[in-house]
Amino acid sequence: MKKVLKWIGIVLGGLVGLVVIAAAIGYFSGKSKLTKVYEYAPENIPVPSGSEAVAQGQYLVEHWMLCADCHGKDLGGGEFVNDPMLGVIPAPNLTSGQGGIGSSYTDADWIRALRHGIRPNGEVLVIMPAEAYTLVDADELGAMIAYLKTLPPVDREIETRQLTPVAFIMMGLGIIPETDLLPASKINHDDVPLVAPDRGVTVDYGEYRALSCKGCHAENFAGFPPDPNFGSEAVPNLTPGGELAGWTEADFITTLQTGVTPGGHELDPLAMPWPGIGTADEDELQALWLYLRSLPALPNNE
Ligand code: HEC
Ligand code: HEC
Repeated sequence: MKKVLKWIGIVLGGLVGLVVIAAAIGYFSGKSKLTKVYEYAPENIPVPSGSEAVAQGQYLVEHWMLCADCHGKDLGGGEFVNDPMLGVIPAPNLTSGQGGIGSSYTDADWIRALRHGIRPNGEVLVIMPAEAYTLVDADELGAMIAYLKTLPPVDREIETRQLTPVAFIMMGLGIIPETDLLPASKINHDDVPLVAPDRGVTVDYGEYRALSCKGCHAENFAGFPPDPNFGSEAVPNLTPGGELAGWTEADFITTLQTGVTPGGHELDPLAMPWPGIGTADEDELQALWLYLRSLPALPNNE
């Protein structure tokens, strides 16, 4: 009997040892990913000034780039993730008020953050969806920055990012995939900005504007199942293989403008940013619809 207990003890001890070793490896590997410093000289993208560029930039930021979803209505930042397990990931204050990055950011810093997902010191940004902004047309990106530089200053001190050892371990062991949390890890940093197709009610132009939907509705637009890791709900399939199969263009536009689907389902504005998208110009929404209609009918992503 004693012998058996001894062996159980040895096996359990060994298992605990393995878990500790795995956690330690995960911790250091995750920490090195999350504190990685990238060196990219940002592209030379001209940032115009003048009221026309600022107005175009404001339109893009409010209706298509949706910065306010995370950085707050006034873009003055605030709490974003506060999870006892993972830590605190605030959304920075983008204005030039006290506590805002706007007062110190150069044009190159804006380009670096938006196209490469890194801070001015090269530190990798988490969650900030630079993989979408890196594809934005250079003139549009310049106009967006022109507008961001004119934001009304908001005085709001924002905490610094604090990730827990558990977050490092989960990243290191791949429980949280690197590409989910670190946009810089999935950006092709040598890509040059896309050139936007001419604006018009065309499939091509719709495809370009639909870049704004991919981060949530997936690369192939067939949505996502609920994700227990992040406690998120399902994201619908926008291809003709989903509920939109039976919709008309008017149904689509009315859904985005009112937040209510033809089936009477009210879309949660915190999950689906319809108030920003739905107030974009109608020709752009029509182009989006043309593009979504042109997609193959795919089953919902699993
Ligand atoms: C899905 C949420 C989300 C969206 C949308 C988003 N951001 Fe961010 N952004 C974040 C988070 C979170 C951080 C902080 C990341 C960190 O500290 O690692 C951040 C960081 C930044 C930074 C770096 C600030 C610094 O500390 O140097 C800039 C600049 C920025 N965002 C600008 C923008 C702009 C401009 C837009 C719209 C074009 C935008 N963001 C859209 C979540 C978002
Ligand atoms: C921040 C994530 C996010 C972005 C960005 C986003 N969506 Fe959504 N969308 C969702 C979620 C989540 C739902 C489901 C919301 C609900 O049921 O309350 C949804 C629902 C929808 C629906 C209703 C579909 C149905 O079957 O009921 C349409 C249409 C839609 N989105 C279109 C778009 C388009 C077009 C874009 C880009 C211009 C876009 N969405 C961008 C997250 C997003």
